[in-house]
Order: sequence, then structure tokens, then C-alpha cells
Amino acid sequence: MAIEIHVDHRAAIIIFISGGSILSSDNILISNGVTGEFAFVTPSVWDDLKEDIFEIEEESFSSSLCDSKDDLLKLINSPTSIFIVLRIPSVSRVIGYLAADMLEGFSEVPGITSDPYIDQGKTIYIVSVAIHRDWRRLGLGVATQKECLRVASQRGFKRVTAHIESGAASRMGLGARVLMSFANWYGTGRTFDYVEFSTHLRET
Ligand SMILES: CC(C)(COP(=O)(O)OP(=O)(O)OC[C@H]1O[C@@H](n2cnc3c(N)ncnc32)[C@H](O)[C@@H]1OP(=O)(O)O)[C@@H](O)C(=O)NCCC(=O)NCCS
Repeated sequence: MAIEIHVDHRAAIIIFISGGSILSSDNILISNGVTGEFAFVTPSVWDDLKEDIFEIEEESFSSSLCDSKDDLLKLINSPTSIFIVLRIPSVSRVIGYLAADMLEGFSEVPGITSDPYIDQGKTIYIVSVAIHRDWRRLGLGVATQKECLRVASQRGFKRVTAHIESGAASRMGLGARVLMSFANWYGTGRTFDYVEFSTHLRET
């Protein structure tokens, strides 16, 4: 199955992965022959990718939401984490990333200890997902999260959860269910929802 995304403002670029192992057998077609693939970020490719990842993170999140470099490094080194990038090697740039790990590792995040499935080892929590601002609104954010659902399911996890801007769940088309809401999330003045994705939805 191929995902087709139309881009009007860019000439054909082939997106492929030169670092990390390729994850999905599905290419992402971004029209005019533009295709993309996702790859795992592992400790061995971290040094090549980290600056691009940090740059996207810093421009995407306010300081109260930014993960520290040490936190991301911890995730890279965790055997249960799912750390994915989408990269354009022709310009040597990562254009998006997603970092996730088992829910039980995030008890300090509001709402996590109230999750009814905490301590059952069946849930992956997406701690951070971002797409470079030049590549947003093309379906790549949803495709990246869908890839996380696919990998989580492959590893035997039954569900994936995340905190996302309130109201976004219905726009994502991944069947997310809102479990809780948090006003003024980390002092941003915005409301975030704690949402649950069922991993079997990866087939939709
Ligand atoms: C959120 C983000 C990853 C979405 O990526 P994208 O490629 O632009 O999104 P898509 O085109 O695949 O998504 C379709 C819609 O779902 C929304 N969406 C998808 N994933 C989302 C998420 N995790 N949180 C909130 N909204 C999301 C998109 O904003 C978009 O809504 P719109 O039609 O009103 O613009 C991107 O806007 C971004 O990097 N934002 C800054 C970082 C951030 O807020 N991350 C999410 C919280 S961890």
C-alpha cells in the first residue's frame, strides 16, 4: 500500500534513508516521484542525526515542552523505545521524528499514572513527534504516528497513547479516543488531550 501526498511547491525529490534501518515496506509518495521511508534511530546513527532532530524539536516546541537532549539520548538507548525519523538525504536533512517508549517510563507526565492500563506493559507512549515547518500539512505527521502504531503492534503492544492539542484527535483520522484533558498544559495556556490509539488501526 502506498500513501500519496501532493506537494505543489517542490520539484521531485527522492526521499530515502541513509542512516538507521528502514522500517516500513510502504513507500510514502509525495507526488512527482517523491517518495519517503522511515528508519529507526539507533545509538550508532545518533551522532549523524541528532543536530537535525534537535533543530526540529527546538523550532517546534516552546521551552516548557522541549525534551532535553539528555532525555532524547536516554530514549535512543532504551531497548524498548520507538525512535523514528523521516529524512531527505539529497539535502542531508531529517524532516521529522517521533520518540516513544513504554508508558510505565513516563509516570512524571500528568495523566499517565491515571491511565487504566498503567503497569500492564501493553502501551507505548509517544513523548514527542514533530515535522519540520516546511513540510507540515502534507500528511507526514499522521503518517509518522501511523508508522509508530505499526511498529508498536509488531512488537506486541496493544495500544499507543499521547498528549496532543485539544481537538486534534478528530483531524488525524487514526480513530484516537480522548481519555483526559489538561488545561494550560505545561504553562502553554493551551489545552491538551490525553488520547489512546488502538494499534489494530494501523491497517486503516
Ligand atoms: C503536529 C505536527 C506533527 C503535525 O504534522 P503535519 O505533518 O503538519 O500533520 P498532518 O498533515 O499529517 O496532519 C493532519 C492534521 O492533524 C493534526 N495533527 C497530526 N498529528 C498531530 C499531533 N500529534 N498533535 C496535534 N495535531 C496533530 C495536524 O496539525 C493537521 O491538522 P490541520 O489539518 O488542522 O493542520 C506538526 O504540526 C508539528 O510538528 N507541530 C509542532 C510540534 C507538535 O505540536 N507536536 C505534537 C505534540 S507532541
